Amino acid sequence: MEYHTSTEDRRVGTGIAGLDELLQGGYPKGSVTLIAGTPGTGKTIVCFQYLDTGVKNKEKCLFLTSDERIDNLVNQANKLGFNFDGAVKSGQLKFLYLDLEKHTVHKDMEDEIRMGKYSRVVLDSLTPLSEMPVWVVNRGSEIIPVGDTMVNTPLPLDSIQATRMHVRRLLRILEEDACTALVTSEITEGSRNLSRDSVSEFLVDGILVLDLDPSMDRRKLTVRKMRGTKHTLKPRDIEITSKGGIRIL
Ligand SMILES: Nc1ncnc2c1ncn2[C@@H]1O[C@H](COP(=O)(O)OP(=O)(O)OP(=O)(O)O)[C@@H](O)[C@H]1O
Ligand SMILES: [Mg+2]
Repeated sequence: MEYHTSTEDRRVGTGIAGLDELLQGGYPKGSVTLIAGTPGTGKTIVCFQYLDTGVKNKEKCLFLTSDERIDNLVNQANKLGFNFDGAVKSGQLKFLYLDLEKHTVHKDMEDEIRMGKYSRVVLDSLTPLSEMPVWVVNRGSEIIPVGDTMVNTPLPLDSIQATRMHVRRLLRILEEDACTALVTSEITEGSRNLSRDSVSEFLVDGILVLDLDPSMDRRKLTVRKMRGTKHTLKPRDIEITSKGGIRIL
């Protein structure tokens, strides 16, 4: 199959067998895609496959996690057939724990992405970050985590504006032209929203939704949106195996 190769339409391989074909070659270069799903639907596995492909292409890759146990994450990847040890040792792949207690968490993330010259970045997951308490100061020109003492005119923390500003700020960090990013988002069971913050789905370039049908013992993947891409909206059956993760059936 032939794909467009103009600058504005370059694609980045997803690493998921059958998904590149559904996306005219992969994720649009420079885009941010939300990987949304209820617990256990395979969001982290989508990220592993994405970074594994990057590693194989000799690209610089970053896995940002809000989970302290990076060892567990690497073990989990191993069990699915991904061996990241070599890439981590050589510095081609970095796992970075984002400490939400630290009031420099945004800046840490920003600095790492700017300085690291990564071409593939994953944030797993956006949900705890988007839910952390923040102060919106200087009429929204700045967002700072609570705990910083230099606070003036804060917006109410539970306001939709505050959440929207905070999520926008987080996503903007990932919108660096040079990198193509995936961000996972937890959907609450039974909710019709695609994220718990209910705004990130509007701010990203693409959305993949992962689903389970326990009664049929089936898993599904749906492309809900993808900037500049003609794609089907039909849910596709997928399977997860220990030999490389998710594949489209
Ligand atoms: N080796 C395997 N073979 C088949 N299925 C597996 C294997 N390993 C994991 N799974 C399935 O993948 C699921 C975990 O996938 P993953 O961790 O990507 O989900 P997640 O959406 O990130 O979950 P969470 O919301 O808890 O972070 C498991 O619940 C299991 O159903
Ligand atoms: Mg996960």
